Amino acid sequence: MRTVVITGGTDGMGAALVRHHLGAGDRVVVIGRSRAKFDTLRGTATGEAAGRAEFLGADLSSVAENRRVIERLRADHERIDVLVLAASFIRQRRHVTLEGREASWVLFFVSKYLFVTGLADLLRAAERPIVVNTAVPGARAGAIDFDDLELSRGFTFARSNAQQRRANELLGLLAVTRNPDLAYVTWGPARLVRSSFAGEVGFAMKLGATVFGRLAGQHPDAAVAPIIALIDDPVPGRNAYRGPKRRPLVTGPDDRAAITRLAEAVDGSLV
Ligand SMILES: NC(=O)c1ccc[n+]([C@@H]2O[C@H](COP(=O)([O-])OP(=O)(O)OC[C@H]3O[C@@H](n4cnc5c(N)ncnc54)[C@H](OP(=O)(O)O)[C@@H]3O)[C@@H](O)[C@H]2O)c1
Repeated sequence: MRTVVITGGTDGMGAALVRHHLGAGDRVVVIGRSRAKFDTLRGTATGEAAGRAEFLGADLSSVAENRRVIERLRADHERIDVLVLAASFIRQRRHVTLEGREASWVLFFVSKYLFVTGLADLLRAAERPIVVNTAVPGARAGAIDFDDLELSRGFTFARSNAQQRRANELLGLLAVTRNPDLAYVTWGPARLVRSSFAGEVGFAMKLGATVFGRLAGQHPDAAVAPIIALIDDPVPGRNAYRGPKRRPLVTGPDDRAAITRLAEAVDGSLV
């Protein structure tokens, strides 16, 4: 039986994957903030499938919460076959958490960095491990401000979004260098998906996402079909996809130096 861990598994595409994997006979660990959403989701599972779903409640914009959940996963599991990183809370403005850190940087990158590095040995224990990181690939190579990762100066949604996407593409280089058997995929949907659009965004963005999402958005169950195909036949190495289509990885002048610098900066910021 595969063990599948899904952050942001209580809603949107994460929940669609939870439904699929419970139906496919996998053990599924669902991470999110809302126990009520999890209970509803588990209620849709039939027969013994509900017994294979486990909930770990956590606010992943908190470093301490990430560490707690990762410790719990390490204590409870010897192997993780599939790690899906899909937690999302879109903030158009800069927001500092009670830990004094920029919320979007922690949720969209530091959390993923902690999961991928902190669970590396459990992924290594799987025969065909895969990490699916739902960070849209293709951000420009120079999108990271190494001297100000939390964008204390000149924060914009576009800069924050591009930086975390680029960082998540580079994270794959670190992950597959340390574990050549690992498949690491940065994946974005081919078009807008009709999800919960959780976040604190301006009226225009909320209206656009809601109206356009309802009219033209893809249902999460349909949107995740390409992810399921990738999970069922993982290809070792680093790859990028939009929907079912493979995309070229963006390469910078020295990506190895860039990920080393990024990892050192993040590790340094966490001590
Ligand atoms: N929808 C799209 O069109 C689209 C386009 C491009 C990329 N993506 C990416 O695809 C992924 C899934 O997106 P989605 O739209 O399907 O998501 P969604 O419906 O907005 O759901 C977000 C999930 O993240 C969880 N979450 C939010 N804040 C959290 C926090 N602080 N700590 C822990 N969990 C938290 C939510 O659970 P709780 O409510 O239980 O906390 C929920 O399960 C994301 O990475 C997103 O960036 C989506």
